[in-house]
Amino acid sequence: CAAAAVVLTQRVKVRSQKYTARKILVEFQEACETPLPRLRQVVDAMAVEMHAGLVSEGGSKLKMLPTFIDHLPDGNEKGLYYAVDLGGTNFRVLRTQLGGLEGRVIKQEYEEVAIPPELMLGTSEQLFDFIAKELVSFVAREGEDFRLHEGQSREIGFTFSFPCKQTAVNSGTLLQWTKGFKVNDAIGQDVVAALQGSIERRGYKMRIAALVNDTVGTLAGGRYWNNDVMIAVILGTGTNACYVERAESISKWGGELPKSGQMVINMEWGNFWSSHLPRTYVDELLDNESLNPGEYGFEKMISGMYLGDCVRRVLVRMAQQAGIFGPHVPHKLLEAFTLQTPDMSKMHHDDSSDLKMVAEVLKTVYGIHNTTLGIRKIVLAVCDIVCQRGARLAAAGIVGILKKIGRDGSTANGFIRRNDVNGIHDELTVNSIGGSGKTVVAMDGGLYEHYSKFRNYMQQAVRELLGDAAKNVFIELSKDGSGIGAAILAASHAEYVPT
Ligand code: GLC
Repeated sequence: CAAAAVVLTQRVKVRSQKYTARKILVEFQEACETPLPRLRQVVDAMAVEMHAGLVSEGGSKLKMLPTFIDHLPDGNEKGLYYAVDLGGTNFRVLRTQLGGLEGRVIKQEYEEVAIPPELMLGTSEQLFDFIAKELVSFVAREGEDFRLHEGQSREIGFTFSFPCKQTAVNSGTLLQWTKGFKVNDAIGQDVVAALQGSIERRGYKMRIAALVNDTVGTLAGGRYWNNDVMIAVILGTGTNACYVERAESISKWGGELPKSGQMVINMEWGNFWSSHLPRTYVDELLDNESLNPGEYGFEKMISGMYLGDCVRRVLVRMAQQAGIFGPHVPHKLLEAFTLQTPDMSKMHHDDSSDLKMVAEVLKTVYGIHNTTLGIRKIVLAVCDIVCQRGARLAAAGIVGILKKIGRDGSTANGFIRRNDVNGIHDELTVNSIGGSGKTVVAMDGGLYEHYSKFRNYMQQAVRELLGDAAKNVFIELSKDGSGIGAAILAASHAEYVPT
């Protein structure tokens, strides 16, 4: 009888454990839902905020930063150029020999190193010295295949993927850090001058010709090959977008309008916010423990740095309230950012009948053994919810930009649209800026490239939102486009232009 009682209690416990975990799962799922009407509200909010951010400084949480890039590469660029790329998990240096329209990229070489974690939280001098050191030693290994033209000095495109307020194409002050960097004394500094100083202190002379956000590098790299590229999006450690705007629409622009009539805008969409976003307790907790609380809420729902942690936080709740991992919550599970998005992706792509990979990740990352298939299914479902929400929100962001530039199919090409976005009078001759009626979105970033379920959910949501107009919109992976794009921008903004 005593034995029967034990069995009974265990059974009851197991049933209630599953029940509670399911309840947490369903509640979380409901809070994360992004049905089409809700996504459309996000699309509209994005377009409205873009407009507001262009009208006045601080007019929106979207910074809408003018980049001073008013002409994009067209393939005529010639010569040897360098790029350094800081902003994600890796730091990259590259050189490329450009041969003009016939030769295009004749030769290219790059090197990549992981950024030492202590540099992400150190001093500005340490960070820029590290970049200068890597650059200088890379330049020293320049082979004979790479040639400077007579009279040409080495010019560099500096991809620096953080929000900067630019005052010229090759100067800009850092507004704030994102993505786990926090080098306090760099805020407010001109990052070009800082890097230039570090290079000169090493006895080298090189000119930084362009300061480039990774989105802008990706746009330039994409445009170099394809004239229909109008938008670039990064879905990687962080997330952001830039696009080609009509200069006249940038009311906050104080200077003379560029002759081209265009300007690339770095949106810093990671900081986008709208009451229509499906925010949950997970997002609040994550935000509180992040290095930039209260900022970049959109990025924290979408990008690679954060998705894994969203999953972890739901699992913590299930472990605490439903005991899914036994009587004790595994210690490491309580540590922020211990579930990396690549591990989440591995679990999410597990299509074995017994979810071996889910078990494996839980074991290797958290030392959790002996999970039941039922629990593993729940873990998989959490990955799916978090991934799907992020992907669909990214899709809404893209369609928001298409809407702002009149390429979402809501207006016929060539017409003036008025009153398009929630009563804002924004007159724009649709397709007035180049192109063939096709719109290409150049995409880069490890999240998009490697997390195929994320990519598929995103593309599916873009199709749902655009309907028929989807046939004119192409999302193209432009792998490592930001580095090469920065080198090409250095070429198109070089002091000395070889003929
Ligand atoms: C962060 C940065 C932004 C960058 C993005 C993608 O959001 O603030 O500048 O483009 O990450 O790397």
